[in-house]
Amino acid sequence: MSKTAVTSVPIHSVLAERWSPRSYTDQILTKADLAPAFEAARWSPSANNAQEWRYIVGFRGDATFDAIAKTLAGWNATWAPTAGALVVAAAQVEDAEGKANPFAIYDLGQSVAHFSVQAHADGLHVHQMAGTDTAALDEAFNLPAGIKSFVVFAVGNLGSPDALPEQLAEREVKPRERRPLDETVFYSAL
Ligand SMILES: Cc1cc2nc3c(=O)[nH]c(=O)nc-3n(C[C@H](O)[C@H](O)[C@H](O)COP(=O)(O)O)c2cc1C
Repeated sequence: MSKTAVTSVPIHSVLAERWSPRSYTDQILTKADLAPAFEAARWSPSANNAQEWRYIVGFRGDATFDAIAKTLAGWNATWAPTAGALVVAAAQVEDAEGKANPFAIYDLGQSVAHFSVQAHADGLHVHQMAGTDTAALDEAFNLPAGIKSFVVFAVGNLGSPDALPEQLAEREVKPRERRPLDETVFYSAL
């Protein structure tokens, strides 16, 4: 099975090969395994260097992992708890005076992207999920005023598609697709 992107020009192999699996081995992860990816996330750029991102990490078997898993919706609740770690990605969306930061979510997404690329370079796989109850996460982790959770992502070692229910196994082996470059980037548009 190849999930490598079919690109119109060569790109860095880590970017071409990164993808979002749903099957993970039962290997336990440690803080040390995730440290380089979180370091990459920390060094992501942000508007005014505000670094709005915050991450809460649960390792499979601990109470944080179980609390995160409980908030997952639909299919996410079936496959994601097999990953080695579940991470809540949250952002400081308002400052101490309650003033909104319009770039907080943009910056959080970029930081998670840095995480996912470094994790992939380190032999791990990452799968982001919007299908989670963010209000329940905010409450479960008692997030401070102005900080809100947005997604959960699973991190782990790639497992076999055969370990998944049939519907998910089919999606696991399907080639990845994207809109063509010429419908995405518009040069000299005027
Ligand atoms: C913000 C965001 C939310 C997502 N939510 C879900 C989700 O709830 N469940 C899921 O299975 N995949 C989810 N995905 C994964 C996407 O479906 C996946 O990244 C996309 O199909 C491209 O596939 P690839 O990452 O393998 O290239 C999400 C991805 C992002 C970036």
